[in-house]
Parts: sequence; structure tokens; C-alpha cells
Amino acid sequence: MGRNVVVTGGGTGIGLSVARRFAEAGDQVTIVGRRRDVLVEAAERLGPSVRPLSCDLADADAVAALVGELPGRIDVLVNSAGSRESRAGAGPHAVLARWRGDFERNVLTAVLLTESVRDRLAQGGGRVVTISSIAAVRGAGSYGASKAALHAWNHFLAAQLGPSGITANVVAPGTVAGTEFFGDRLNEVELVRRAGRTLVGRVGEPEDVSAAVFFLASAEAGYITGEILHCNGGELLGR
Ligand SMILES: NC(=O)c1ccc[n+]([C@@H]2O[C@H](COP(=O)([O-])OP(=O)(O)OC[C@H]3O[C@@H](n4cnc5c(N)ncnc54)[C@H](OP(=O)(O)O)[C@@H]3O)[C@@H](O)[C@H]2O)c1
Repeated sequence: MGRNVVVTGGGTGIGLSVARRFAEAGDQVTIVGRRRDVLVEAAERLGPSVRPLSCDLADADAVAALVGELPGRIDVLVNSAGSRESRAGAGPHAVLARWRGDFERNVLTAVLLTESVRDRLAQGGGRVVTISSIAAVRGAGSYGASKAALHAWNHFLAAQLGPSGITANVVAPGTVAGTEFFGDRLNEVELVRRAGRTLVGRVGEPEDVSAAVFFLASAEAGYITGEILHCNGGELLGR
């Protein structure tokens, strides 16, 4: 029998690739996001082992309702839901909206669910993998700060879960094309510019990230916890 896997943001982009990877391995996968139609379509494409559940993960009431629908034992939780607040502006209201928005979308979406299902994570083998960003260490205003907060939280989480044999790790991607993250901002010129910042001469694909997630969720990775795995084609090191 496969593992019970929950993937937030599993309807699109990196989360969808992660869900596909586990489904192909024979696991039972629950994908979570806000747009039900997107999730249902993704689940139909991935097969009967994938179940769509819609929820705004930044809303505590919605998360409380979601928890009632999730399996009693969760072997793998992947926190991929997140996005970047694009509203500009320098006045205090604009700054508040941007910082609060990024904190809610990237920190609360991971923390509310993970803390709510902590008692259901499989003892002796459970896995939590959270997606942050290269922005957490290269500075990108409120978005980078929110992703950096996930790094600090992951350290705490790993310490809390370690005695139960559960690992908690972060995967921090660089630019990943083929997702909804950039909207229409990732045009050809921008893709070439970003590819040139890496050491491998290309931007990432969702499968680059899902491979890293899948490894960290494996039994073989049981001695790796509290880590941040950068997945950016060498962009962090630079040329
Ligand atoms: N693409 C990149 O270059 C890149 C680089 C570094 C890090 N990342 C990170 O990777 C993760 C996945 O992003 P992606 O590139 O795959 O973009 P994406 O295609 O936009 O995926 C984000 C997913 O999160 C879901 N989501 C957002 N807010 C949510 C909420 N409040 N509640 C529930 N679900 C929510 C979205 O679905 P709904 O809109 O239907 O809710 C969507 O399916 C994000 O955390 C992002 O910050 C991406």
C-alpha cells in the first residue's frame, strides 16, 4: 500500500509536478489549493489515486474544515502553496498590504496546516518538505523575508518532530518556468537573462524541484533534517 501524501499548491506548477511524482510511485495523494476547478482537472489528469480538496490555507477556519477531510495518518506533507504579492507602493497602507499578503500566502499557508496535522504525521518515518525560494537568501523584500521565515520555522519544526522520527526540510528553488508564479512576466528576454545567471545555463523546470522533494521524502533521506536544499542551477553561487 502506498503512502498518504498531502501536497498544497498541488493543482499547478511545482506542486502539480510533486503530486504527479508521488502518484506515479503508487502513493495516495491529496492536492490542496483555492480553485476547485483547477484541482479537479489536475486530479483527473493524474489518476484515481489523487484527490482534490479546495481550501484557502491562509484562513484558519478553512484549514480547520480541511483537516477533517484529510487522512488520519499523513506520511508526507509537502507545502508548495505560495505566491508573490505584486502590488507596489511606498505608503504605509501599500507596504502593509504587501508584507501582510506575502506573509499570509507563504508563511501562514505552510504553518497553519502543518501545525494542525502535526499529530497525524507518521511516527518513525513521516516527512515534511516545504518550498521556500532563493529569494530567502538573496533578498527580495517582503517575499524574500516571508520565505526566510520558513527557514527559521523549519529549524524549529525539525527539532520538534525529530524525536518522533519525522524529518522536516526545505527545498529552495531558483527560477522555475512552466508554473503560474510569474504570470506573463517570464517572457523570452527574461528567461534568457535568468538562465544566464545560473551555472548550468538554463532556468529550472518543476521536475527539477519535485525530484528533490521526492528524495527528501524517501526512506533513504531519514538522516537529513532541518536542512535547506538549494535547487537553482548554481545561481546562488553565481558566475
Ligand atoms: N516558479 C518559481 O520560479 C519559484 C521560485 C522559487 C520558489 N517558488 C515557490 O514555489 C511554490 C510553488 O510555486 P509555483 O512556481 O509552482 O507557482 P504556482 O503555479 O502559482 O503554484 C502556487 C500554488 O499555490 C496555490 N496557493 C496559493 N495561495 C494559496 C492559498 N492561500 N491557499 C491554498 N493554495 C494556495 C495556488 O493555487 P490557487 O491559486 O488555486 O490557490 C497554486 O496552485 C511557491 O511557494 C513559490 O513561492 C517558485
